[in-house]
Amino acid sequence: MANYSLNNRRYLWNKFKLLDFISEIIEKEKITFSSFCDIFAWTGVVWNFFNKKNIKVISNDILEANFVSLVTFLKATKKDFEKIPEYIEHLNNLKTTKKDNYVSINYWDKYFDYNNAIRIWEIREEIERMNLKPIEKNILLSSLVYSIDKIANTCWHYAAFRKKMSKYPEIKLNIPEINFESNLNNEIYKEDANILVSKINPDVIYLDPPYNSRQYFNSYHVLENIVKWNKPELEWITKQIKDRSKYKSEYCSNNAYNVFSDLIQKANCKYLIVSYNNTWEKLDARSNSKLSDTQIIEILSKKWKVTIHEKDYKYYTAWKNNNIKEHKERLYVCKVK
Ligand SMILES: C[S@@+](CC[C@H](N)C(=O)[O-])C[C@H]1O[C@@H](n2cnc3c(N)ncnc32)[C@H](O)[C@@H]1O
Repeated sequence: MANYSLNNRRYLWNKFKLLDFISEIIEKEKITFSSFCDIFAWTGVVWNFFNKKNIKVISNDILEANFVSLVTFLKATKKDFEKIPEYIEHLNNLKTTKKDNYVSINYWDKYFDYNNAIRIWEIREEIERMNLKPIEKNILLSSLVYSIDKIANTCWHYAAFRKKMSKYPEIKLNIPEINFESNLNNEIYKEDANILVSKINPDVIYLDPPYNSRQYFNSYHVLENIVKWNKPELEWITKQIKDRSKYKSEYCSNNAYNVFSDLIQKANCKYLIVSYNNTWEKLDARSNSKLSDTQIIEILSKKWKVTIHEKDYKYYTAWKNNNIKEHKERLYVCKVK
């Protein structure tokens, strides 16, 4: 049975390539901490970088497909994994029925080939039928998310699919590699960051909110739908969930200034570290960032001293505006009074 690590998700816009930059700035600013909150965690690569035995990591993301992996990598213990190899073996060897189902009817010939559409359904239904502890269910769903990423007929996200179906191997679940020793004190949440922020007081809060109007839910709806498994009605050629209003993040809306300001005002910590970019008014309306440099500095300055650091960064998008000149990723560090 193969293994996978936290960094093996197929994704756009995560901070994997910026980890050295973030870490350098933390050192340069002489920031020391024993608790670190990644309040918009998504793939979790940032908290994972700081997850050490003597550091308490608090990780949060509003999407369920992200939450199951955060719980798996940050919280699960060795004991929680005792039966996982046996369960994965069972799921990988389920007999295929070849009867059409919700996944094949909706996603076949778009996101998945026929065999994998059938198998995803069978594996997901079997996970519901198995007599699992909640943490075991989380681990199996996280494994399913990582494995779906490998056989999805997409370019990094699920807002669209490739016109031509490529050849894919049959989906197989794998076992995550966990650093159990570092996970002793961690906490994981699936809450609106603006609500969670009032309940925690870590030394550092790291914020990497969505930058533009492209909703993460719309880009990862297939994974969210398979993890949640309520089988709702889907629409459009891309098979988006019809009733998706409740999944919208205000950070992708024109209310971004107000929600960001509210979160910062409520934050109870020693340092705020914010990742953002400089695409304010550089791209098209959907891709421009929602907060300007001036707005971020104005909001953070209310908490006290702000320093700004930036790095040239090759911006990649699967959309058309790939060639952005002088794209920079910024890190705003605010020492709180
Ligand atoms: C830019 S991504 C974070 C990327 C992450 N730092 C990484 O490297 O993988 C923003 C994340 O914020 C989440 N999000 C959006 N609005 C949120 C909210 N109000 N509360 C909590 N999470 C939210 C999205 O689901 C998305 O996963």
